Amino acid sequence: MTDFTIHKFPSLKSTNDTAKDYTDNFSVIVADKQTQGKGRRGKTWISPEGGLYVSIIITNPDLSNLGIYSLAAALSLCEVIPAKAKIKWPNDVLIEGKKVSGILLETATNPSRLIIGIGININTFPKDNLLSYPATSLKNENITIAKDELLTSLLNQLAHNLTLSPQQIIALWQKNAMGIGKNIKVTLAKDTLFGVFKGLDAKGNLILSTKNKEKPDKTIPCGEIYF
Ligand code: BTN
Repeated sequence: MTDFTIHKFPSLKSTNDTAKDYTDNFSVIVADKQTQGKGRRGKTWISPEGGLYVSIIITNPDLSNLGIYSLAAALSLCEVIPAKAKIKWPNDVLIEGKKVSGILLETATNPSRLIIGIGININTFPKDNLLSYPATSLKNENITIAKDELLTSLLNQLAHNLTLSPQQIIALWQKNAMGIGKNIKVTLAKDTLFGVFKGLDAKGNLILSTKNKEKPDKTIPCGEIYF
């Protein structure tokens, strides 16, 4: 069991923001609710009581390989959810095609830190149909697990996965992922691509096989994928 130091709060704006005040490796910030929970691409992560909102601090991360931490976090979550959970690239965990959790990575300096923020819908989920994917909660999927138990197993699994090599993490990630070998659509900031999801490269970028004869394989560092 890795030595995590868990700091629990009844309410925070964002556990990721509070995490920036902590400098010890494996400090963990948990809140019962967040009033300004942050999602990716500037979105809000709706965070009422009944969810797990946690940020884990990793000191002196390998900044050239941040994508691997994101894959390791999603893999850990997928491994500890007792259901047919699958990972949607890069780091969403879905049950039956519905999003049950999200991960937001941020960095901080002095000292150099990576903050892995994870939100899991346990008892509630947003019914906002503007989401790219429908949402769900563990409760809605008939999965009963106590929040503290889920947190402990998630932290232990993450600590274990962070001891693996990037190649091992990618191999396990691919085993648990949705859509490899299938036709997908990828939306980028200014473009939409279609092709076959071949897998990930050594950095965790998505490799898309397209019909472009000169350069069929496209390497995609970030984007949203649709099946
Ligand atoms: C996403 O958009 O899918 C990422 C959502 C990440 C939400 C978590 S909840 C804990 C941590 N604190 C935040 O403000 N955001 C992350």
